[in-house]
Amino acid sequence: MSAPTFSVVPEHVAIIMDGNGRWANARGLPRTMGHRKGVEAVRETVRAAGDIGIKYLTLFAFSSENWRRPETEVSDLLGLLKAFIRRDLAELHRQNVRIRVIGDRDNLRGDILPLLLEAEETTRSNTALTLVIAFNYGSRDEIARAFTSLAKDVEAGRLRPQDISPELVGARLDTAGIPDPDLIIRTSGEERLSNFLLWQAAYSEFMFMPEFWPDFSRDLFFAALEKYAARDRRFGGLSAKPAAAVGS
Ligand code: FPP
Repeated sequence: MSAPTFSVVPEHVAIIMDGNGRWANARGLPRTMGHRKGVEAVRETVRAAGDIGIKYLTLFAFSSENWRRPETEVSDLLGLLKAFIRRDLAELHRQNVRIRVIGDRDNLRGDILPLLLEAEETTRSNTALTLVIAFNYGSRDEIARAFTSLAKDVEAGRLRPQDISPELVGARLDTAGIPDPDLIIRTSGEERLSNFLLWQAAYSEFMFMPEFWPDFSRDLFFAALEKYAARDRRFGGLSAKPAAAVGS
């Protein structure tokens, strides 16, 4: 399928895929159907991102707080993620997609961790889109783990406290080596970050869309990218765009 061209393509887009449950409720369906339809939207979005040359796509698949949901829903979400990797890994590999997983890997139950590691290992040399799956991810937890790692180096005499810089902190986060997201999209009309990429979002553009995640599509994605291309990013400095174009 042909893809439109944009004057600016973000290098990294991160998405909070919200609204699966409400999508299902609105149709009188069980919540699990919303998650199932959500996986289809994931597939379409990954393909679209690859088609237009986005280099990094991060998807918030399961937060460290999602364990608080009823056991049946937790099992369902884990099952869908596992099925996605089992069924789609070969195709993603063929599309030259590299998979990275962020989030706490300790104490994960069952066969989920081996599967995630296999996905990373199989695709590690791929060079097109990097699909970053945030699983058992919480930003405060990620930052705390980075601080623990730095504190251990200080304790061992390998690092002086005054040498701790933003770059050094960034290099200890799960996202080390991944550029900060240029654009963060959240679906379902909620307007908050919910413990997602707090450190990395310092200069991100935000886009809150009213549609529930299962309704997210290639067209909605491209509409968001069109809007992004018109944004004026200043990173604390002055506008690089001519005055007439600012805010247009
Ligand atoms: C939010 O909807 C969505 C999630 C908690 C999980 C997202 C997971 C998927 C789309 C499937 C698996 C992921 C991959 C990468 C294959 P919600 O349940 O919070 O919806 P609600 O706010 O309407 O209740």
